[in-house]
Amino acid sequence: MKTLNFHLLAASICLSPLTISADDNAEKTAPKKEAAEVKKPDQEIVIEGNDQMQFNKKELEIKVGETIKLTLKHSGKLPKEVMGHNFVLLAKGTNLVGWATQAMTARENDFIPTAPEAKEAILAHTKVLGGGESDSVTFSVKEAGEYEFLCSFPGHFGVMKGKVIVK
Ligand code: CU
Repeated sequence: MKTLNFHLLAASICLSPLTISADDNAEKTAPKKEAAEVKKPDQEIVIEGNDQMQFNKKELEIKVGETIKLTLKHSGKLPKEVMGHNFVLLAKGTNLVGWATQAMTARENDFIPTAPEAKEAILAHTKVLGGGESDSVTFSVKEAGEYEFLCSFPGHFGVMKGKVIVK
């Protein structure tokens, strides 16, 4: 019955002022996600990885729901085959060592594991970079707390890791 009414109203939209309320309802239920995705980020963060296998930041602080544009820069000179770096932010409560161990074997997928569970644990990630390269990722975190980030290039997560504090 409702669908029928809607069709009748939609058809008469130009004919009667009574249809204005029906039109309003339609707009409210329509998703407006796309507009949020193209807006300017609330915060821009730059983090660097170098040839000594180090991030220049160990802790990042962001706010719940903020749109973050994070740029990873590889400030070294070594190629990505020997000193590749990426930035991966994991969901709260993820076992970092377990996740990173899975990532190690995913060379063909830029060290991002493809198993569904491991993929679901990723909140954001850049691609793997070599010296002089950079890559950005935009994300937001919906829940306050402490999250871990790491570089998933084999052997790096022991040193290349840190915390994202979400307030
Ligand atoms: Cu690395």
